[in-house]
Amino acid sequence: MSKETSKLRLRLAKNYEELCQDVVRNILALSEKIIALRGRFAIALSGGSTPKGIYALMASPDYRNRFQWEKIHFFWGDERWVSPEDVKSNYRMVAEALLTRVDIPPGNIHPIRTDHENPEISAAFYEKELVSSFNLKNGEWPHFDLILLGLGNDGHVASLFPGSPELLLTNRLAVPVVGEKIEPSRVTVTLPLINQAEFIFLLISGREKAEILKAVLEGAGNNSLPVQKVNPQDGEVLWFTDQSA
Ligand code: 6PG
Repeated sequence: MSKETSKLRLRLAKNYEELCQDVVRNILALSEKIIALRGRFAIALSGGSTPKGIYALMASPDYRNRFQWEKIHFFWGDERWVSPEDVKSNYRMVAEALLTRVDIPPGNIHPIRTDHENPEISAAFYEKELVSSFNLKNGEWPHFDLILLGLGNDGHVASLFPGSPELLLTNRLAVPVVGEKIEPSRVTVTLPLINQAEFIFLLISGREKAEILKAVLEGAGNNSLPVQKVNPQDGEVLWFTDQSA
């Protein structure tokens, strides 16, 4: 079983399989609690490869009938500026692992659309989607019940990269991330939006994450890395890791 260390809420699984089990059990328990309280559970999904096994497990016979899919709203923390059919698309990854395998009402799926003219327009449309889905008044922030984040080897979360100007934005819900080093371009939610979440699960698995995880936990980079800025004022961050990380 995973165990939580005292100070930091870090859960250590034996391996990726156990990490996925622990994460899914926690997502299920949280969704049941929030749905009982508020009738709806809003989750922002992470892209990348780590969460694939988590989404697939949610759609597996062990769990598919335990989630109240009709009350869960799926958003994305970021998206690559590619077509939804592209293998690099975060939407495609989630659709293959989860959305096409369980019965989720189409109105509960809120992708970051990439069929607009450019990433800025997509970001603006996604902000509108957030405003209407969370019924926000002017200047209000959406409070996700849960945001899933992976951790990049450079300490990035979503598509908020170290030293990027997007990290400093305080007046946007979602923004484009474009630059010659950013291939493909991205659309990402912003740090203030992430820090409004009730729960954030950081998903860190595999040997290749050992170095960045150690650096982050030791406060390297004098806490300037994006992941070190994930610090929800009223929310909780849980780190799900495994032995190899
Ligand atoms: C993406 C993700 C990104 C990812 C990290 C870790 O669009 O790729 O949002 O932030 O979570 O890069 O990726 P892995 O899980 O593949 O290691």
